[in-house]
Amino acid sequence: MAIKRIGIVGSGIMGSGIAEVAAKAGIEVVLRSRAQATADAMVAGLEKSLAKQVERGKLEESDRDAVLGRVRAVTDLGELSDCDLVLESIVEDLAAKKHLFNELDRICPEHAIIATNTSTLPVIELAMETGRPDKVCGVHFFNPAPMMALVEVVRPLTASDDTIAAVTAFASSCGKDPVEVKDRAGFIVNALLFPYLNNAVRMLEAGTASRDDIDTAMKGGCNFPMGPLALLDLVGLDTSLSILDALYEEFKDPNYAAMPLLRRMVAAGQLGRKSGGGFFDYRK
Ligand SMILES: NC(=O)c1ccc[n+]([C@@H]2O[C@H](COP(=O)([O-])OP(=O)(O)OC[C@H]3O[C@@H](n4cnc5c(N)ncnc54)[C@H](O)[C@@H]3O)[C@@H](O)[C@H]2O)c1
Repeated sequence: MAIKRIGIVGSGIMGSGIAEVAAKAGIEVVLRSRAQATADAMVAGLEKSLAKQVERGKLEESDRDAVLGRVRAVTDLGELSDCDLVLESIVEDLAAKKHLFNELDRICPEHAIIATNTSTLPVIELAMETGRPDKVCGVHFFNPAPMMALVEVVRPLTASDDTIAAVTAFASSCGKDPVEVKDRAGFIVNALLFPYLNNAVRMLEAGTASRDDIDTAMKGGCNFPMGPLALLDLVGLDTSLSILDALYEEFKDPNYAAMPLLRRMVAAGQLGRKSGGGFFDYRK
C-alpha cells in the first residue's frame, strides 16, 4: 500500500518534526493537536523552520509554499478519517496511548495502519487495543526528526509483513534509513543509549566530575557531537525518565534504574530545552 496521506497525533517536539519531514517528502499531513493554540504554534514553528532553510539556500521559495500547503493542523481527531497511516506521537504514557489507539481504531479507515512513535513502550499492548493488530507497528523517528537519518520500524508479534513493508517504504520515501527491530523496550538505540545517559547523571550526582567536564569529555574523547547531559536536555528529562522506567520495568537491569537526580529534576519541572532549563540553561 502506498502511503499518500498521514495523520500525526501530538504536536510536541517529535510530532512537529515528523510533520515537516513527511510534508517535504510530498506526503499530505494532517497534524492533530488537542488545542487550537498549539496547532497554530506548530504551523508557525514549521513556517519559521522552512524560512530558515530558504534563507540558507537549502529550499526554494516555491517548495516552501508547497510544503506548507501539504500540512493541515486540526484539533478534531475525526479529521484523521481519510489517512493511510496515522502516527501517534503523544506523551510517553501507556494509559494515554492505549486510550488514543482505541479511539483511532474507531476513526481510521479499515485499510489504515496505526503506528506509534513510542521510544520504549510495548507496541503489542497498543496493537491489542485495536481490532486490527496486524496493521499496528512502531515507527520510531529520532530527535530532531528533520535531521536524524534513522527510523526504527518496530514489529510486534501481530504485525503483518504488508504493514512492515508499507511503513518501511514510507520511511525510505521520507529520505530516512529504516531498520527493523522486535518489539522490546528501547528497541536498538535507546536500549544501548540510556544506560550511558543514566550513568552520566550518576557520575554528576556522585561529584566525580562537573557537568561541563562530563560533556566535554564525551565530546572530545569519543567524538560524540554532544555530551550526555546536553543530550538528555534535548530529549526532554520527562521523556527520558519515562524511557528509563519502561526499560527497567521490562528488564529489571540496574543500569536502567533512573538516577534520583533525574527524577527530582522532572518533579521540579526542569525538563530540559522545552522548559527553558535542565542540566543547562536555555533562557539566555
Ligand atoms: N523527545 C525525543 O527525543 C523523542 C525521540 C523519539 C521518540 N519520542 C517519542 O515521541 C513521543 C512524543 O514525545 P515528544 O518528545 O514529542 O514529547 P512532547 O512533550 O514534546 O510532546 C508531547 C505531546 O503530547 C501531547 N499530549 C500529552 N498528553 C496527551 C494526551 N493524553 N492525549 C493527546 N495528546 C497528549 C502534549 O500536549 C504534547 O503536544 C513519545 O512517545 C516519545 O517517547 C521522543
